[in-house]
Amino acid sequence: MRELILNDGEKIPIVGFGTYKAKEQEGIQSVVDALSNGYRLIDTAAAYENEEAVGNGIKASGISRDQVVVTTKLWREMLGYEQTKAALEKSLSRLGLDYIDLYLIHWPANARNYKNWQQTNADTWRAMEELQGEGKIRSIGVSNFWQEHLEALFQTANAVPAVNQIEFHPGYWQPELTEFCRQQGIVVESWSPLARGGVFGNEVLESIANRHGKSVAQVCLRWVIQHDVIVIPKSTSPKRIEENIQLFDFELSDEEMKQIDDLPEMGFSGELPNIWPDRV
Ligand SMILES: NC(=O)c1ccc[n+]([C@@H]2O[C@H](COP(=O)([O-])OP(=O)(O)OC[C@H]3O[C@@H](n4cnc5c(N)ncnc54)[C@H](OP(=O)(O)O)[C@@H]3O)[C@@H](O)[C@H]2O)c1
Repeated sequence: MRELILNDGEKIPIVGFGTYKAKEQEGIQSVVDALSNGYRLIDTAAAYENEEAVGNGIKASGISRDQVVVTTKLWREMLGYEQTKAALEKSLSRLGLDYIDLYLIHWPANARNYKNWQQTNADTWRAMEELQGEGKIRSIGVSNFWQEHLEALFQTANAVPAVNQIEFHPGYWQPELTEFCRQQGIVVESWSPLARGGVFGNEVLESIANRHGKSVAQVCLRWVIQHDVIVIPKSTSPKRIEENIQLFDFELSDEEMKQIDDLPEMGFSGELPNIWPDRV
């Protein structure tokens, strides 16, 4: 498996496994299936209410803890210095772990719902930096941060976020933000790489998939990693879990990459970092 090196020196696989909506027994089993198929990066969040299932899946897999990169996220109702520290302890306890590999701020405080959003994000980040210093987190990062949120954070941050996890799939891939992150040394991670099913039925993607003898899902996931962006598809189907990691036996041409880059908007979630909790 190809790995990327984060700005703090830690390594991270370029393909990982998403767990949104995979709860209880289904969540446990999907994590076991993912690890047995070779995934070594697992993505959860306090808000998914499945950290316990994910932790149990990792234990049940028999793969040793230090071989798995575990990501979880601080929910947006818990922003702030004290709350961040308390939330991390709860995530550790639910996961049954004594450290998190990658801890992300799930959504930034924004001008819509915080009087001083810059201060709230700065306080949250200071707590994350301290937790990293204590060894409770290996890498710290953000999610759904736009350039304006990152630039504000840089005013007070000691550490540049290692990762920014953003909505990124054919039809909505935020190229300017991706380029900005790259210039700052922040690795981009794609969420909803299949637009939760919204990419299926597109003729351009289907014709590229037919040309390579691959599925549309595999073409979308390959397109993400050829942008040097981490991808974390979610599935609870053993067949699709296996399919989604078979991405290293074909390559998209420059022309195919461009065709996918240029697809018109499709599958956009409607979730915007500057106006949450509302949707467009
Ligand atoms: N940071 C954030 O704000 C944020 C937001 C959204 C998601 N995420 C993370 O990103 C992960 C992935 O995103 P997502 O779960 O929203 O969407 P996704 O991975 O784009 O799509 C998941 C959906 O596609 C189906 N699917 C998966 N593989 C398939 C295949 N090969 N062929 C056909 N259908 C397939 C799944 O169904 P089955 O399960 O039935 O296969 C599921 O319904 C999440 O699980 C979560 O970890 C983060």
